[in-house]
Amino acid sequence: MKKYLGIILLTFITISCKGQSNSNVERNVGGPCQDCEAVLDFKMLNITPKATDTLPGFEKNEPKVKITGTVFQKDGKTPAENIVLYIYHTDRNGIYQPSEKPISWEKTHGQYRGWLNTGKDGKFTFYTFRPAPYPKVQEAEHIHIYVKEPNTIPYYIDSYFFESDSKLTTEKRKSQKNRGGSGIVKLKKENGIWTANRNLILGMNIPDYE
Ligand SMILES: [Fe+2]
Repeated sequence: MKKYLGIILLTFITISCKGQSNSNVERNVGGPCQDCEAVLDFKMLNITPKATDTLPGFEKNEPKVKITGTVFQKDGKTPAENIVLYIYHTDRNGIYQPSEKPISWEKTHGQYRGWLNTGKDGKFTFYTFRPAPYPKVQEAEHIHIYVKEPNTIPYYIDSYFFESDSKLTTEKRKSQKNRGGSGIVKLKKENGIWTANRNLILGMNIPDYE
């Protein structure tokens, strides 16, 4: 009897472990993205992302901006917890300027980047400055944002664009995929800082999400 009990127990443990490892599998969503793994740089840099972050260069650059939002599950109502967001943008010359000793993806994305992690209420805030359009290419100024959910690979959503940007043409607006919802925000001056809110809906217009 003891022998059978052992076999039963072993089978149970094997099934349990298998079940557990399956739930940890990262779903492949969002389509191709060459640099989305940059989201994971926070681990290498020993950064613990929080619900609020101030990007490097905030103090020295103008105009300063504050971006707020709530991450919701696909239903658009339930706040999403433990969602890592990665943001990066150019300097005031439109260049992704790395620091003197760039580490990992900073070489490509520049030094003005940061990470957030949502709490139970799904809310996040980041402080930074307005980037500038690329110097030689006709492109509106923008802030990139990528997402890492606990059970997905990192993927990108629509960048932040600014309503007041003259380079944000009708054509450009129409070409947006609205991944995670529209990224076009309107800045309003609140307490002396240009502020905008954009809520994110997980899975919205994200390929292979379901
Ligand atoms: Fe860009």
